Amino acid sequence: MAKFEFPAGFFWGTAMSAHQVEGGNWNSDYWLLEHTPGSLFAEPSGDTCDHYHLYRDDLKLASGLGFDLHRFSIEWARIEPEEGEFSVAALDHYRRVLAACHEVGLKPCVTFHHFTSPRWVTADGGWEDEKTADRFARYCERAGKHLGDLIHSACTLNEANINASLSVNGIFPRDGLKRRLPFVAEAARRCGATLDRFSPFLYSDADRSREVMLLAHRKGREALRSGPGKFLIGIPLAMTDDQAIPGGEERRDRARAESIDPFLELARDDDFIGVQTYTRQRFGPEGPILGGEPGVEILTMGYEYWPDALEATIRYAASRAAVPVWVTENGIGTPNDPQRIEYVRRALGGVVRCLRDGIDVQGYVYWSLLDNFEWMFGYKQQFGIVSVDRATQERTPKPSARWLAEIVRANSIELA
Ligand code: BGC
Repeated sequence: MAKFEFPAGFFWGTAMSAHQVEGGNWNSDYWLLEHTPGSLFAEPSGDTCDHYHLYRDDLKLASGLGFDLHRFSIEWARIEPEEGEFSVAALDHYRRVLAACHEVGLKPCVTFHHFTSPRWVTADGGWEDEKTADRFARYCERAGKHLGDLIHSACTLNEANINASLSVNGIFPRDGLKRRLPFVAEAARRCGATLDRFSPFLYSDADRSREVMLLAHRKGREALRSGPGKFLIGIPLAMTDDQAIPGGEERRDRARAESIDPFLELARDDDFIGVQTYTRQRFGPEGPILGGEPGVEILTMGYEYWPDALEATIRYAASRAAVPVWVTENGIGTPNDPQRIEYVRRALGGVVRCLRDGIDVQGYVYWSLLDNFEWMFGYKQQFGIVSVDRATQERTPKPSARWLAEIVRANSIELA
């Protein structure tokens, strides 16, 4: 067994997003989608982990495990519940969260948008309309002014390339999932919008939303830079290890050119690039290969168990973006906690190989601290290193939490 020491200052964190853990996010477009008849959501988010009230306990838990960075999102639907009406109470809540991070020794890494938007934004063009980039920048400006002095680092939009990526991988239709799901049309009707104008982040036309999201990152970054605080700014991207079987190279490269390269180029003016990786994607001469390779386990999320994907995506991101790499999400949804340990062990092995090759990887953030609301899948998926009894809100660290805590505290890993 060889021991690898991570560089001094390498950070370790866990990530979460407001809608997935806070509870009661009723003014957001997702709450509406979850509660529309015919919804494809397995269940509504409800109170989720009640992190809105229990954040102090959760932050203590994370810091008690040895983590030194906490990635979380603030909720636009709470901060700007109606156009141009900013809630100082909501902003003050997030100031308290930020202060609590500092109190327990966690560097706060704030995501300004993690999939959910205020209903009024989504109903008025949403992520298919360039106006949303300006609205997003205005929200960043207001929130940045209120919170900037306490922020360590910021992510503008979580996985702004997600529609483009899922569409080139053959999982989402190119013109947007919203045009295939009748309940989305019903949700639009319920808030007085036409389907054309109603454009939730993950359901929009891939080509149009890519342009709006690129613009939103650029404008949001500018707004944040002009405010108080000298925090670092980056964009976290959804990345798969894109592999070509013989003859699939051209299709693979074309998919990358549409779904990831423009974002990596934009990131050259950022302070870091956020890599978020869960699995791989294979391409053949006909395009993306759906379904797994025989012999490779398919996880309950529907994709392959492929921990080595992280190494490949770090290498690709570093080569294109040419800024420091932060692993802003990596993890596995599984009821089998030993499998989580094995997944993270192998993924970290990939981080080690990148560091040995001189790639500037500055930290690793596990998704997620808590078992939480996994979007359309509801609560069945378990990404957390801590389980949550949602009837009592009791948190119980899993063996994987203790295992990762040892690596984090030692800032080193025993390699097989
Ligand atoms: C998203 C999270 C999600 C996780 C696991 C990421 O793409 O940022 O919100 O829970 O994947 O599926």
